[in-house]
Amino acid sequence: MSRERQIVAGLDVGSTKTCAVIAEVTGDLPRSPVAKILGVGLAKNAGVRRGVVRDIDETTRSIVAALRDAERMAGVKVGGVTCGIAGDHVQARVSSGVVAVNGDEIGEADIARAQQVARAVSLGRDHELLLHIPQEYKVDQQRGIRDPIGMTGMRLEVEMYLVSVQATAAQNLRKSVERAGYKVTDLVPEPLAAADAVLTEDERELGVALVEIGGSATNVSIFHEGKIRHLATVQFAGTHVTSDVTQGLSVTQADAERLKERQGVAYEPLVDPSEMIDLPSTPGQGARKAARQLLAHIIHQRMDEIFNLVLTEIERAGFASRLNGGVVITGGAAAMQGVAELAADVFGTGVRIGSPEGNVGGLSDSVDAPRFATVVGLAIYGAHRAAAGFSPTSKHRALAGVGVDKFTKRLKIWLEDFF
Ligand SMILES: Nc1ncnc2c1ncn2[C@@H]1O[C@H](COP(=O)(O)OP(=O)(O)OP(=O)(O)O)[C@@H](O)[C@H]1O
Ligand SMILES: [Mg+2]
Repeated sequence: MSRERQIVAGLDVGSTKTCAVIAEVTGDLPRSPVAKILGVGLAKNAGVRRGVVRDIDETTRSIVAALRDAERMAGVKVGGVTCGIAGDHVQARVSSGVVAVNGDEIGEADIARAQQVARAVSLGRDHELLLHIPQEYKVDQQRGIRDPIGMTGMRLEVEMYLVSVQATAAQNLRKSVERAGYKVTDLVPEPLAAADAVLTEDERELGVALVEIGGSATNVSIFHEGKIRHLATVQFAGTHVTSDVTQGLSVTQADAERLKERQGVAYEPLVDPSEMIDLPSTPGQGARKAARQLLAHIIHQRMDEIFNLVLTEIERAGFASRLNGGVVITGGAAAMQGVAELAADVFGTGVRIGSPEGNVGGLSDSVDAPRFATVVGLAIYGAHRAAAGFSPTSKHRALAGVGVDKFTKRLKIWLEDFF
């Protein structure tokens, strides 16, 4: 049977770069869609700080550039994009909803009612609900139920994970995308997108912390028993490392960035103490050299601080001794040599660097770096959304759990598996 080609796009608007990925939805549909990468586009962006758009014109320009390049490479035009959103305004909480069961057997309508109760919490002024993920159900006294349909009971309880964002932050992001000539079909919390691009099911089941080190912030997401348990943001990341190098070695911002990316090491013991590197210099400074160990020392100090703040978050969430799946590091700054060694030292667990190329088809080589984790996760999200047969306008009805139809059921299964 021939079917229309379904194209999706992920858009990651970061504080250093905007990245777009265009993919075709392939694989075993609707259950196991695969995002086949067709095109990737990357553009610098100086219009976003800590996940919040500060300059709409600059952000719009970078979105146009990234999507234009991705469209050229893919040979297709896209209209809608799955866009990531991040920052410390992203809030997550667990909320439960209890209802009395009307008939003997629990049906879709009972589940919808329970979810509605769980969602009816005050999010605080100026916050909009982005996602609500049913985590588990409880029927009478029995807990840990994944699908209560058909079970007999008097009382049904659902535990939901709610993610909300500041409404103005979401509006400004949507506005930037619209000004660039595209439509946001979904806004997705970036840490959840990155998780889907790099984590394995086993890691989520065993307990894992995903640490995404970007330009201006580091996102932490903790999964345990297959569920998302905690989201947090640490306000230090790659640009803070660059600033430290700028000051420590008296070089310009651009030179510090180059030095860091080409010769930077995050774990000082990996560097030979006798190794010297040339430092960029002004005519006044004259030719300069420095021990590579000094560069590594500067980077090591800051990365150590970042990882210790992440560790505090993990401890605060109560998962320090429950990460049997270890820690996975991703995001642009994860590409630096020594990051895994330093992280293993701080976290005392197994550590690996997460890159998304193994979880997609097509031109997967073009997303073979940790900085593509979020954008690839967004394309994967879009592929699942498309496979579930959703048009953006039916989203709210479907997520609200009312109007149960086969699409709702598919989406429900997928959301539960997804996060
Ligand atoms: N090879 C590399 N070695 C060291 N650092 C790197 C390397 N490649 C990228 N980075 C750093 O990664 C950071 C950018 O990461 P990323 O692209 O994930 O951020 P972003 O999405 O733009 O920002 P944010 O998510 O914080 O808004 C920069 O600070 C950059 O210096
Ligand atoms: Mg980012």
